Amino acid sequence: MAWRLIPLLLLLVWTASMCRARTRTDLLNVCMDAKHHKTKPGPEDKLHDQCTPWKEKACCSASTSQELHKNISLLYNFTVDHCGKMEPACKRHFIQDNCLYECSPNLGPWIQEVNQSWRKERFLHVPLCKEDCQRWWEDCRTSYTCKSNWHRGWNWTSGINQCPTGTTCRTFETYFPTPAALCEGLWSHSYKLSNYSRGSGRCIQMWFDPAQGNPNEEVARFYAQARSAGALPRGLEPLLLSLALMQQLWLLG
Ligand SMILES: *[C@@H]1O[C@H](CO)[C@@H](O)[C@H](O)[C@H]1NC(C)=O
Ligand SMILES: *[C@@H]1O[C@H](CO)[C@@H](O)[C@H](O)[C@H]1NC(C)=O
Ligand SMILES: *[C@@H]1O[C@H](CO)[C@@H](O)[C@H](O)[C@H]1NC(C)=O
Ligand SMILES: *[C@@H]1O[C@H](CO)[C@@H](O)[C@H](O)[C@H]1NC(C)=O
Ligand SMILES: *[C@@H]1O[C@H](CO)[C@@H](O)[C@H](O)[C@H]1NC(C)=O
Repeated sequence: MAWRLIPLLLLLVWTASMCRARTRTDLLNVCMDAKHHKTKPGPEDKLHDQCTPWKEKACCSASTSQELHKNISLLYNFTVDHCGKMEPACKRHFIQDNCLYECSPNLGPWIQEVNQSWRKERFLHVPLCKEDCQRWWEDCRTSYTCKSNWHRGWNWTSGINQCPTGTTCRTFETYFPTPAALCEGLWSHSYKLSNYSRGSGRCIQMWFDPAQGNPNEEVARFYAQARSAGALPRGLEPLLLSLALMQQLWLLG
């Protein structure tokens, strides 16, 4: 009787592995379902200034890339100048952060569903290369802010984010004592500080030279594979395989 089950089990194993393959490709070359993202990545030869590295394959439109360079972009009516003018050396990191957020098609492994009015999905724990985070922090130490989480808690009564009453404008270093505090705290853990370095293929680069291609493609492939390989083996698959094996042994015995 038992041997009759073997084809069924093999079919189950095969189906499971097909599901894994499917999951893996679904995590690659995708755009998040959020406020300004395109539904699919594609070429955008008119991307603006700091967003141009993504022009071969982007989730942002040219107008989005243009808008996010403005001091108060109409994308979110959000300003980094909420404690006076941010220094340009610091501001460029926020523009780059925005370009990565809006344009990158390589953040699929870190997309999570959310229950927010303005977007259906977000990024969570994107492993940011340590140098990119470190440099961001160093260049912003002397700029000013009034909050250590920029997602929540602003006073929006004027239509633009303002410091809520009870907060004080102080240096970034006060609100973000370490690079990790900045990169991880700023957008509610959208980023995680990676211990990997730029060029390792194991962390996402906010900055890259497109002449060498987009280094984040390989990073996404690595984490997509790790994720989908990790999904089943701890659960269904080894169970099915050992069942199949046991049945073989029963047949022999
Ligand atoms: C932002 O404001 C600064 C200072 O007022 C100005 O020099 C800069 O050109 C502005 N940037 C943009 C993109 O409007
Ligand atoms: C930003 O403000 C402008 C002008 O007040 C308004 O037309 C626009 O709808 C606002 N955009 C967002 C995203 O709130
Ligand atoms: C999302 O929010 C709505 C309204 O607040 C709530 O009814 C719903 O249960 C929430 N869904 C999840 C998945 O949290
Ligand atoms: C929000 O800002 C307005 C001025 O723009 C101020 O009158 C109000 O008290 C502030 N509210 C809070 C909760 O900070
Ligand atoms: C990063 O940390 C992980 C886990 O702690 C470790 O396995 C890995 O070797 C570290 N990588 C580098 C480049 O230090």
